[in-house]
Amino acid sequence: MIGRHRIINIVGARPNLPKIAPLIREMQRHPQIEPLLIHTGQHYDENLSKIFFRQMGIPEPHMNLGVGSGTHAEQTAEILKRIEPILLRQQPDLVLVVGDVNSTIAVSLAAVKLGIPVAHVEAGLRSFDRSMPEEINRVLTDALAKYLFATEDDAVDNLLREGRPREFIHLVGNVMIDSLLQFLPLAQQSRIGDELGLRNGKCWQSFGVLTLHRPSNVDSSEKLAEILGAMDAIAQQVPIVFPVHPRTQQRLSQSGIKHHPQLRLIQPLGYLDFLCLLSKATLALTDSGGIQEETTALGVPCLTLRENTERPVTVSRGTNVIVGTNPSKIEAATEQILRGDGKRGQTPALWDGHAAERIVEIILQDRLV
Ligand code: UD1
Repeated sequence: MIGRHRIINIVGARPNLPKIAPLIREMQRHPQIEPLLIHTGQHYDENLSKIFFRQMGIPEPHMNLGVGSGTHAEQTAEILKRIEPILLRQQPDLVLVVGDVNSTIAVSLAAVKLGIPVAHVEAGLRSFDRSMPEEINRVLTDALAKYLFATEDDAVDNLLREGRPREFIHLVGNVMIDSLLQFLPLAQQSRIGDELGLRNGKCWQSFGVLTLHRPSNVDSSEKLAEILGAMDAIAQQVPIVFPVHPRTQQRLSQSGIKHHPQLRLIQPLGYLDFLCLLSKATLALTDSGGIQEETTALGVPCLTLRENTERPVTVSRGTNVIVGTNPSKIEAATEQILRGDGKRGQTPALWDGHAAERIVEIILQDRLV
């Protein structure tokens, strides 16, 4: 082998961080690999980015492209423009992208046009709903990437149906669950339960965790008010902790929607506090993809406030129920959980804390680089 194999790893938005952390750590264990980390700067708030680096021990990025916020076209175009000279200068053997955010597709496109192979971690997930920006990013990234690492069987089937070659598709498990399993013991030491008055000594009271940030749920004041109306009804029975994403905060500030005092709006949380809350929650209500998976791994009932999911294994095996955004359906499903009849699930195959090891092993064995 001549020289080390240079792999450029890309992060941009919050959900990328728990996925990249175990991959970088694993790459660092192999002297044949020279991992570089580049942050596009899509997310830049302390609570959406830096705190994750600190808590998960992710090394400082070699570079931050500082693209910031903008329309989809602006953000994607800025990343394309700013990453190209870096790829030309660094001449990596492989570019590794995770997830489905604008940074994922933008960097993949720049890399393949320069003839640099791309590996996509979390390939093949499909909601079959092209009104979701992430679905476009997923479909296009998988069409461009050479190496496709999947978290679940359905994803493998989707990739095969789209004509991606079998030999480049690998079912490896879920790197985000690698992080969850690694950090859960540390997360249990978080003081967030005391700070929010949800814990008395060792005893946690019943509570729900709510997250909302999908444009389809929060960009319209009417839709957001409808969902929060359902949350108000639930909050009369159990407190609901609601860490508010900046996109959602903007809409709330503009629309002046009122809410029940037991619906506790707080700042976005760091990884450890959020994981602690999620692990102790009676239920989660969410439109996030990652939280559907995390609740399945934790065995916590999850109600997904969307009409579909790109992660069907969380429904077929896990604790997830797709309830949509109709208030009466949300309230009925919540009642069921509060009665103790919440969905009990099993952990999907290979969500065992070793996905990053498998990916790096395949990269080395297959001489992908
Ligand atoms: C992005 C991803 C989404 C992911 C989510 C996780 C895309 C298309 N969307 O959505 O898939 O689930 O991240 O959080 O890539 N903002 C801040 N501070 C920041 C970043 C953003 O205040 O650090 C505000 C800005 O006003 C921005 C808005 O939030 O306009 C939305 O940010 P953006 O990155 O465009 O999309 P997200 O909704 O965060």
